[in-house]
Amino acid sequence: MTAPATPATAVDPPIVTAYRGLRPAVLPVWFMRQAGRSLPEYRQSRAGVAMLDACLTPDLAAEITLQPVRRHGVDAAIFFSDIVVPLKLAGVDVSIVPGRGPVFGRPVRDEADLADLTAHTLTDDALVVIERAVSATVQQLGPVPLIGFAGAPFTLASYVVEGGPSKDQLRARTMAHADPAAWIRLTDWLAAVSGAFLAAQVRAGARAVQLFDSWAGSLSARDYRTTALPAATRTLAAVSGVPRVHFGTGTALLLSAMRDAGAEVIGVDHRIDLREAAQRTGGVVPLQGNIDPALLAAPWPVLERHLTEVVEAGRAAPAHVLNLGHGVPPETDPGVLTRIVEWAHTRP
Ligand code: CP3
Repeated sequence: MTAPATPATAVDPPIVTAYRGLRPAVLPVWFMRQAGRSLPEYRQSRAGVAMLDACLTPDLAAEITLQPVRRHGVDAAIFFSDIVVPLKLAGVDVSIVPGRGPVFGRPVRDEADLADLTAHTLTDDALVVIERAVSATVQQLGPVPLIGFAGAPFTLASYVVEGGPSKDQLRARTMAHADPAAWIRLTDWLAAVSGAFLAAQVRAGARAVQLFDSWAGSLSARDYRTTALPAATRTLAAVSGVPRVHFGTGTALLLSAMRDAGAEVIGVDHRIDLREAAQRTGGVVPLQGNIDPALLAAPWPVLERHLTEVVEAGRAAPAHVLNLGHGVPPETDPGVLTRIVEWAHTRP
C-alpha cells in the first residue's frame, strides 16, 4: 500500500489533498511546462537571457514561476528551473540550446569521462541560489503551493551519455547493458545530485515534488526495473514529508514498476486511459494527467469532450489531479489553458 506521506489536514490546499489520496471539493489542475514560451510575458522576461542564467537568477525564476498562476489561476506553481540545473551547479559543462535542449561539453563515453563527471559534487553552498529562488517564489505565491521537481537518473543519463537530446536513448541503453558497473556509478551520482536538488526545494518551502523520468518509456518493464528503478527510488528517498509525483512518457507498461520507486502519486501520459492506469497501479494510487497536448489546438467542443472523458476515467483512481500527458506545446494559445482551469473549477 502507498501510505500518505503525512496525514491530510484541513489547511491543505486542494492539490495537496488530492496528492494525499482524498478528493477535494474542486478538481485541482496545473500544466507541465505551464511556465514557458506559450506565455508572451515569459518571452518578454526571457528576452536576451540564456535559459540557465534565467534559472539561476532568483528574482527572475520566481517571476516566471508566478506568471502562469496569475494568468490561469492554476492550483499549483511548478518551480521554473530545468532537470540539468543541479548538474550545472555541480560545475558540469552543460548548456541549454534553444529549440534543442540540454547539451554537454563532455559526453560520458568512457571510463575517463565518467571519472571526470563523478568527480564533481553538488554542495549545499551551490544550492543556496535555488533555496533563494524557491523562498522568494513561495513568499509571493501565498496560499498557492509550489511543486518542486528534478530529473530522474535514467532521463538525465540519456542526455549525459548522448551529449544532447536523442530519439531513443540508444547510447544510454547500450551502456546500461554493456557496462553495468559504470551505469550504476553514473546513475548513483545522478541520484545524489537530483536528490539534493529536490531536498533544497523542499527545505525552502516546496509543498510537493515531481520526478520527471520523461524518457523511461524507451525501456522494457524488465530493463526499467534493473536500470532505472533503483536510482529513481534513491532520488525520491531524498525527500520526505511532502507528496511525491513520479511521471514519465510512454510508460503504460511501466506503471506498476514505477509505483515501486515509492512516490505517492503517479503522473500518466496521454497514451493510456486513466482507468487502465488505475488498474495497473492497484486502484489505490492518486493519478495525475492526462490531457493529450495535441487537443489543446482543437476546437473547444472537441477539447471539452476529451476533458470530460479524462475526468470520467480519473474517477477510477482514489484522487485525480488534472494535467496534460506531457508539456504545454510552445505554440499553444494560453487562453485555452485558462479556459481549462475555469472548466475544471466550475464542474458540478
Ligand atoms: O513549467 C514547468 O513545467 C517548469 C519548468 C521546467 C522546464 N524544464 C523549463 C524549461 C521543467 C519541469 C523542465 C523539465 C525538463 N527539462 C524535462 C522533463 C520534462 C519533459 O518535458 O519531459 C526535460 C526532458 C528537460 C530538458 C529540456 N530542457 C528540454 C528537452 C528543453 C527544450 C528545449 C527547447 O528549446 O525546445 C529544455 C529547455 C526548457 N526547460 C525550456 C523551459 C521553459 C525552454 C527554454 C526556452 O524557453 O528557451
